[in-house]
Amino acid sequence: MEVQDVRDDLEEILYTREQIQQKIAELAAEIDRDYADKDVLIVGVLKGAVMVMADLARALKSHVTMDWMAVSSYGSGTKSSGVVRILKDLDADLMNRHVLIVEDIIDSGLTLSWLKANLESRGPASLEICTLLRKPEAAKVDIDVKYVGMDIPNKFVVGYGLDFSEKYRNLDCIGILAPHVYS
Ligand code: XMP
Ligand code: MG
Repeated sequence: MEVQDVRDDLEEILYTREQIQQKIAELAAEIDRDYADKDVLIVGVLKGAVMVMADLARALKSHVTMDWMAVSSYGSGTKSSGVVRILKDLDADLMNRHVLIVEDIIDSGLTLSWLKANLESRGPASLEICTLLRKPEAAKVDIDVKYVGMDIPNKFVVGYGLDFSEKYRNLDCIGILAPHVYS
């Protein structure tokens, strides 16, 4: 769906489909360069990272293995609970693998810092993080993120995999959700 399909639900469009693809291409070029002599396993965090994974993987010029993990941290609201639960674990064994976690967004960072520690304990050769979006003002923990698409304001955003109550994931752009939708 496109912005006109959600009428006035967005307060502002942050990134258009074209701007997102441009950013993904830049991230892919960096990743291709950094992993030139290594086999990388990219781990997508369901469900939000589906679009980023699909586009990032296709923008890469080298082979990658893809795996998925589902964790819950938010429920259906707009605030991080800090409580993380594994809903679906990886199929792959991470021992001695070069692992790159792919995320849609880092908000408080609580989900990712938990996930990073969890995957780190599985013995990967390396573990890095790639996120399309990050909200610097919302950070509650300090995490080292190697690849960041864009830093955004501390507002609730939807589209391109990001949902509000499971809606807007299939919106082709990223926008700030208008408060009248959730209040
Ligand atoms: P934390 O706060 O743990 O949150 O870094 C990470 C997860 O929360 C979701 N999230 C959002 N989802 N719009 C969304 O649709 C947002 O603005 C937003 N902020 C956080 C997301 O699933 C992310 O992985
Ligand atoms: Mg979500």
